[in-house]
Amino acid sequence: MNEQELMNVARRLVADDKGLLAMDESTSTCNKRFAKVGIPQDVDMRRAYRELLITTPFLGECISGTILYDETIRQQKKVGTPFVKVIMDGGMIPGIKVDTGAKDMAAFPGEKITEGLDGLRDRLKEYFEMGARFAKWRAVITIGFGIPSFGCIEANAQALARYAALCQEAGLVPVVEPEVLMTGDHSMERCRELTKDVLHAVFSHLCTQRVMLEGMILKANMVLPGRACAKQEAVSEVADATVKCLLQVVPPAVPGVAFLSGGQTCELASARLNAMNARSRSPLPWALAFSFARAIQQPALDIWKGNIHNVVAAQNALYHRAQCNKAARRGEYTAAMEETSTLAHA
Ligand code: G3H
Repeated sequence: MNEQELMNVARRLVADDKGLLAMDESTSTCNKRFAKVGIPQDVDMRRAYRELLITTPFLGECISGTILYDETIRQQKKVGTPFVKVIMDGGMIPGIKVDTGAKDMAAFPGEKITEGLDGLRDRLKEYFEMGARFAKWRAVITIGFGIPSFGCIEANAQALARYAALCQEAGLVPVVEPEVLMTGDHSMERCRELTKDVLHAVFSHLCTQRVMLEGMILKANMVLPGRACAKQEAVSEVADATVKCLLQVVPPAVPGVAFLSGGQTCELASARLNAMNARSRSPLPWALAFSFARAIQQPALDIWKGNIHNVVAAQNALYHRAQCNKAARRGEYTAAMEETSTLAHA
């Protein structure tokens, strides 16, 4: 493990007000999203869509790194250029999702445990040789009646820590993602308490497993009321609750927190990230960045619809969202930005 190199990559992932483009949907998730907008669900369409994303002009102005999936990291542009080279030529760092998914947890009804540790050391070695310099593992925590349990939080936190240690051994920066879901009718306060408990467990296990905190990124959920909760707090309240929670449990050695969007609308995800960065009076110990999938890709997917004639318009939509989120990192995002779209193709 080259500690300095890990620290450099981790810092680059959250430098210059940029964030991550999560485009690591598994084949089944990608197919489900294609089906919703009437796009054929096959390998050629998945390849074409991912080519559209990574060839968006000037994307590297706002995006520091892209998270790929095992199928995608092995793909090329139609003209034969490997995706990894396209990403690096665009000034971005290639990353890879390495968990194999959240599965039902034995003896814990309604809860999930993320799998993928078996054989991980060999897979990480291969991904490093292919050019990846960071990796992602997502744990899923569901809020419901009597859950999450201590057993579920502990098992997921330990798996995240073991994955992170293996990543650093292989020279990859771990992006550690314990996602507390926004599904349900729980209050924002319950989400805050549980997010705090989960992050506390995760950092405890990261330390036990000797993970170098300076060479990792935390991918966190924002503190939000459940989607079905009657009380939906204002943007400023969500921002303050999220920052307060992170300050209580995320060590300052961590260079950055990159939020997932979790099913929020694009505009709300940008507005809430913006409020966190704009409202923090004193400098925060870590950068507050983004690692969105749906909240950055969805408009592009809706426009593309699998039609080659829509590629330029879809890329403009992706670039626009990337610009909005870069502005949010500086606390300069406004609703007016949604009226005036920024164009990738001038
Ligand atoms: O692991 C989750 C994704 O990388 C982030 O997806 O922004 O759609 O929640 P999301």
